[in-house]
Amino acid sequence: MESQKAWFYEEYGPKEVLKYGDYMLSSPKPDQLLVQVRAAALNPIDSKRRQRPIFPSDLPAVPGCDMAGVVVAKGELVAQFNIGDEVYGNIQDFNAEGKLKQLGTLAQFVAVEERLVATKPINLSFEEAASLPLALQTAVEGFVTAGFKKGQTIFIVGGAGGCGSLAVQLAKHVYGASKVVATCSTPKVEFVKSLGADEVVDYLKTTYDEIKETYDFVYDTVGDSKRSYVVAKEGAPIVDITWPPSHPRAVYSSLTVSGEILEMLRPYFEAGKLKPAIDPAGPFSFMTGVVEAFRHLETGRARGKVVISSFP
Ligand SMILES: NC(=O)c1ccc[n+]([C@@H]2O[C@H](COP(=O)([O-])OP(=O)(O)OC[C@H]3O[C@@H](n4cnc5c(N)ncnc54)[C@H](OP(=O)(O)O)[C@@H]3O)[C@@H](O)[C@H]2O)c1
Repeated sequence: MESQKAWFYEEYGPKEVLKYGDYMLSSPKPDQLLVQVRAAALNPIDSKRRQRPIFPSDLPAVPGCDMAGVVVAKGELVAQFNIGDEVYGNIQDFNAEGKLKQLGTLAQFVAVEERLVATKPINLSFEEAASLPLALQTAVEGFVTAGFKKGQTIFIVGGAGGCGSLAVQLAKHVYGASKVVATCSTPKVEFVKSLGADEVVDYLKTTYDEIKETYDFVYDTVGDSKRSYVVAKEGAPIVDITWPPSHPRAVYSSLTVSGEILEMLRPYFEAGKLKPAIDPAGPFSFMTGVVEAFRHLETGRARGKVVISSFP
């Protein structure tokens, strides 16, 4: 079996369990593409899975859900993509046995089902495209879970993070919110405004109780629904994407892992209405910066997405 360079862990633990070295190179199954990874992005779930076995999967495991890259081989059932195509996606969906892939995206090559990827928007770099899939799928699911309608108002808790920075943009430019309000700390206020928020609440200066207005939808990306529920109108949906939601009125929302969602939003990226937000500390180098990238993510203070690039 051929090998490739990857980051992997053989035991659960802090970021120091990560090792860089040779890892097996998979051949694509009939419904899979083999993609040469050009950029990847980290999500909090990559840290959580590395810290403890929260989902069934085998070790050693390569972390990473999100990637953008180039198709270098394909299985015989693949119909939509060809060798040389530039694609992106979240490769981690549960298989028939309820397991996630051992081979995540912090590797030179990944095998991924055709249904999980989409054509990279023409105007986005690999780094920008890699920053999107998981957070975008999660943010879209939040609006679906809430049954959000054009013209409604939204209050987003955590407007500067991976999911929140996309939720602000989706609310404004895709779902037609009449008013978008989002929270963040003082240094990120201008960033969240630049995403299209009509108002930004600096949570270091203002508590939820001090906000007089109430909203049609509260989308909480930081697990603060035990407090943030007060800004929801009576009966309005409160979606909390952390498990378990901390207020009984809050509904948990997860994500649908699918290339279709990415394809549906491609025109918005290509028209410049939606824009990826890459954390300014990155992109981090694949060969030398992955542990530092995890350290940065695990501060909980990332602005937009933590991206890994310069794959060999
Ligand atoms: N349910 C699902 O399927 C699903 C999917 C994706 C993510 N998640 C979970 O959702 C959470 C967020 O994910 P993410 O990728 O968006 O994380 P992230 O990018 O790491 O979030 C970092 C951001 O959180 C903000 N933040 C932290 N505390 C805050 C507070 N009290 N109020 C407002 N903003 C605050 C920070 O802004 P400041 O520095 O300004 O505080 C920072 O910009 C994680 O727990 C993740 O595991 C769940």
